[in-house]
Amino acid sequence: MKCRRCKAPAQVKLPSHNTGFCPDCFFRFFSGQVARAIKDHAMIAPGERVLVALSGGKDSLALAHELKEQGCDVTGLHVYLGIPGSSDASLAHIRAFCEPRGIPLLVHSTPDDGLAIPEVKEALKGRPICSACGKIKRHAFNRAAREGGFDVLATGHNLDDETARLFANTLRWDASYLSDQGPCLPAEDGFARKIKPLYRLSEFETACYSFLKGIDNVVAPCPYSSGASFTGHKVLLEDLEHTRPGAKIMFYENFLKNGREAFRSVAGSSPALTPCARCGSPTVRETCGVCGLRRMVAARRAGLFVEDGAAGLEDEAC
Ligand code: AMP
Ligand code: FES
Ligand code: ZN
Repeated sequence: MKCRRCKAPAQVKLPSHNTGFCPDCFFRFFSGQVARAIKDHAMIAPGERVLVALSGGKDSLALAHELKEQGCDVTGLHVYLGIPGSSDASLAHIRAFCEPRGIPLLVHSTPDDGLAIPEVKEALKGRPICSACGKIKRHAFNRAAREGGFDVLATGHNLDDETARLFANTLRWDASYLSDQGPCLPAEDGFARKIKPLYRLSEFETACYSFLKGIDNVVAPCPYSSGASFTGHKVLLEDLEHTRPGAKIMFYENFLKNGREAFRSVAGSSPALTPCARCGSPTVRETCGVCGLRRMVAARRAGLFVEDGAAGLEDEAC
């Protein structure tokens, strides 16, 4: 196969676009998709400061690399979780990525904030750690963005992540989640604007970009998670994409165009947010779910009983 643009031998074959590219033309394609996402959804205005959440995986590193190449004012944020065998390797890897690229890096340590993930896991007594960990991370993202005066918080979610989440929300016809899903959520009530500039690119395309740009990803995955989220949904959608190239982006873009607004009118308005009495993060309760978890962990350490601080984590807004 030849490169669609320059007719050199194609090295990246993209069935969903029914085409292939040589590395240079693939980079142009990749940059074009990111630029289009940013423009279509007014994600970043000129001169805005962007905080990119870096897990150490290929998606978030590729995103930081690409935004920097596009001339954005990028700072990295890593949430260090204190997980033995995984967190130190991730942090070292991210430092080694940021330093040569001149990307400043902020590190938020959850153990220093009373929330080492192994301790949270113990305090949850067998209940799944992943959703609590997700809350703790989003809480840290938001706090770092607010305290650092950043305009935008960017994450490395790609097309596969977004369509799998949309599919899961659709299977449940969850009007509240469906009305709130999208690649750009505006700043409101103490939250920074949240953007997903890779939403038009698949996991495969991001992996090709990382590989061709020489960006390694972390080899020490979290021992508590079984891998990518929504794995089953991703497999189903990949099958569909195989028989109907372009189905994923059409599903997602048409949802944004035709579906989301309809769910907004069904979902009604969300409960009002007020600052958490302990940490100031926006919450629908007096204190937020993350402060509740911190209290549970502290009580467990002191050998005290505390009522379930994880209650309300599911509907907590932060
Ligand atoms: P995941 O939910 O693990 O698929 O991650 C989705 C996105 O969240 C990643 O692409 C990152 O942008 C961000 N992220 C996940 N974990 C971390 C972390 N520990 N520190 C900073 N950002 C993270
Ligand atoms: Fe959060 Fe594994 S990264 S539980
Ligand atoms: Zn709080």
